[in-house]
Amino acid sequence: MSVRLQVNVDHVATLRQARGASYPDPIRVAELSELAGVDGITVHLREDRRHIQDEDVLRLRKVVRKLNLEMAATPAMLTFAQRARPNTVTLVPERREEKTTEGGLDVAGHRVVIAEICAELSKTAIAPYVFIDPDAIQVQGALDIGCAGVEFHTGDFANASGESQVREQLARLQSAARKLTDQSPALVVAAGHGLTLGNVELLVREVPQLGELNIGHAMIGDAIILGIQQAVCAFRRAIQNGQRGRRMPEDRS
Ligand code: PXP
Repeated sequence: MSVRLQVNVDHVATLRQARGASYPDPIRVAELSELAGVDGITVHLREDRRHIQDEDVLRLRKVVRKLNLEMAATPAMLTFAQRARPNTVTLVPERREEKTTEGGLDVAGHRVVIAEICAELSKTAIAPYVFIDPDAIQVQGALDIGCAGVEFHTGDFANASGESQVREQLARLQSAARKLTDQSPALVVAAGHGLTLGNVELLVREVPQLGELNIGHAMIGDAIILGIQQAVCAFRRAIQNGQRGRRMPEDRS
């Protein structure tokens, strides 16, 4: 089975919200991503609604083949998920002041609450995942609560600098993935956060249990770099068309 790639389109919504405009549309980017071959679309509906809005999730649900909703483990978000019915929900920790998700969920410390939310999601045919740091205690917590998948937070791996730090973080991920699949081979092992073209190859090679990746910031950033020439050409053409159709002031007399 090839490793599934899910693109996180939150960053498109961030750009839209910065202007309060209707574009760029994360749903359009999701559709184009599917056409380009991604296996799923991920969005994080944050409690402060700073990028993705409720309506985006509901629209995405209608048009994409596979939708993964990242959300805080709260009753309000559970109610929303039961209404939106994404294919999977990934429970993440959330702090309002953070720029992005800064670490994994403390599943080990909140087993009962998280197990209840996972059970409710499963009843609505939504596969529950938890986003955790690649640590033995959290892996055990995930194994205890009855989730369908685990996404490992790869932020520490992405931020590691130098050979020995990178090796150390890979070893953490390898050992966590091994413990998870040894004890529950049916669980999906996912990973995400800070993945780039510069580190994803190494991660996939070194952690063979990985079946799914969620990538946002770097992919949307690369899309800007790769697409800017086409955008400039399109605007240039529109301006030239306008110029060709111009009536000069003297023509109006
Ligand atoms: N997975 C989870 C659970 C996340 O919270 C995020 C960030 O929204 C990602 C993956 C994607 O991270 P990045 O935008 O750094 O690729």
